[in-house]
Amino acid sequence: MEMSASKSLILPLLTIALFVSLAQPATAAKASRPAYTNFVKTKCNTTTYSSLCQKTLIPYASSVKTNSTKLCKAALDVTIKGAKNASLTVSALKKQKGITRTEASIIKDCIEDVKDAVYELKLAVEAMGHLSDEDKEFQLSNAKTYASAVITDADSCTDGFSGRKVNPAVKKMINSCMANITKLASNALALINHLY
Ligand SMILES: *[C@@H]1O[C@H](CO)[C@@H](O)[C@H](O)[C@H]1NC(C)=O
Ligand SMILES: *[C@@H]1O[C@H](CO)[C@@H](O)[C@H](O)[C@H]1NC(C)=O
Ligand SMILES: *[C@@H]1O[C@H](CO)[C@@H](O)[C@H](O)[C@H]1NC(C)=O
Ligand SMILES: *[C@@H]1O[C@H](CO)[C@@H](O)[C@H](O)[C@H]1NC(C)=O
Repeated sequence: MEMSASKSLILPLLTIALFVSLAQPATAAKASRPAYTNFVKTKCNTTTYSSLCQKTLIPYASSVKTNSTKLCKAALDVTIKGAKNASLTVSALKKQKGITRTEASIIKDCIEDVKDAVYELKLAVEAMGHLSDEDKEFQLSNAKTYASAVITDADSCTDGFSGRKVNPAVKKMINSCMANITKLASNALALINHLY
């Protein structure tokens, strides 16, 4: 009885060990394609926040390969993720104890701004998917317009503080979330600007 109990433990452990050892070569194979990583690094060099660019986009290197359009899409996707994350973080603030009516109202507006930003980012991704259409110049300029609108949205959130009494900790947290969106969007925009 005891014997089989320990055996039944060993098998799953061995299975896990096997999976872990099988997983290793796959990771190694990915890492052994420095060309794709270098492509991302070189492209990120044209951005303002290049280390953030590398950190967020190197994970996409193996799917992007050397396709600049795919890299731009990845940058937009990363910005969508960052914006959604910021929205969750900002929403959570609203439920904090001691949040004033002013703060709640600023937070509500910010959540709207971020929602707009996510919408525009999705439109930018869509435009990037139409670059082989006849109206590619139009699509490209739309993508640029949408990506820069995201920065405007983040600014209009933080503009909400002006002249109002806000808890410094709340302000700091919102500013940091919006700064993240701005940096990610600015990187995506730079990559789109340097597409060709
Ligand atoms: C990035 O730019 C710097 C200087 O502007 C250069 O020294 C470096 O080699 C570049 N890196 C890549 C990966 O292109
Ligand atoms: C890059 O990827 C896009 C899809 O995002 C595709 O339409 C395009 O043909 C690819 N470009 C090259 C040069 O492979
Ligand atoms: C999302 O936000 C949390 C903080 O609320 C942070 O710990 C996490 O790293 C963020 N993730 C991204 C992708 O920005
Ligand atoms: C901002 O981005 C950084 C880097 O991606 C991440 O570590 C941090 O958690 C993010 N903060 C928020 C509030 O999303």
